Amino acid sequence: MSLLRLDRVSRHFGKLQAVQDVSFEMNEGELRAIIGPNGAGKTTFFNLITGFVPPTSGDVWFAGESIRDKAVVYRVKKGIVRTFQITEVFPDLSVYENVRFGVETAAGVNGRPWLPRAKRLELARRTDELIEVVGLAAKADRVVSELAHGDQRVVEIAIALTMNPRLLLLDEPTAGMGDAETDHMVDLIRRLHSERKLSILFIEHDMSIVFGIAQKITVLDHGRLLAEGTAAEVSVDPQVRAAYLGEEAKA
Ligand SMILES: Nc1ncnc2c1ncn2[C@@H]1O[C@H](COP(=O)(O)OP(=O)(O)OP(=O)(O)O)[C@@H](O)[C@H]1O
Ligand SMILES: [Mg+2]
Repeated sequence: MSLLRLDRVSRHFGKLQAVQDVSFEMNEGELRAIIGPNGAGKTTFFNLITGFVPPTSGDVWFAGESIRDKAVVYRVKKGIVRTFQITEVFPDLSVYENVRFGVETAAGVNGRPWLPRAKRLELARRTDELIEVVGLAAKADRVVSELAHGDQRVVEIAIALTMNPRLLLLDEPTAGMGDAETDHMVDLIRRLHSERKLSILFIEHDMSIVFGIAQKITVLDHGRLLAEGTAAEVSVDPQVRAAYLGEEAKA
């Protein structure tokens, strides 16, 4: 079943065409990647899906409903949940407190001074479960700002999971990570997809990761959809090669 569909979506910022006439369709349960050179429009594409920016033209559908005019919060409730290119956590709180805050927010009980014991236990269980899922149980009491960068990004994913995503959007989840941290993140993404049956769309610059785990790859360049297909298809696409060689030539 089609979970997400963008119909000829464009987003202009003044004269700049950040996303131009892009159509995209993704099924429930897929693990997909968006790639493209810097400034290709990848984050803007995510912003159009999450509602952070409205499209200049075109339509966005999620689970059979047009969400084009829906607010971010509405989309989150429907299950469209993202992480950011730059880490977003409460740095002075512990891993547990960060995740607990998300769990309470999702349960609609945030800031309530008093909760029945059964509810408190349920929230604690859910928090523990998500910390376990992402592999941070041993570091649950650590203050997030003192964790390694890779672990901080994992905390972000745990927070995203508190919102019960149906579609998880990850913007450069391995950016700035060392090899071991990257492996851990890749393994986590794989497990979220295979074990928790999450539909995942991620933006990534590291081709070995993209080719290693994405079932299908969508290539953006200068806001346009340049190519789409499996790793084998996309890696031999002459236009894709030209876009990336052009990028290397500039660097
Ligand atoms: N809110 C905004 N206002 C003006 N221009 C913007 C805005 N957001 C993005 N842009 C521009 O749109 C273009 C696409 O940006 P975007 O961030 O989507 O690219 P990207 O593919 O995510 O790049 P990167 O790989 O560097 O993260 C860029 O030229 C960027 O400067
Ligand atoms: Mg970006």
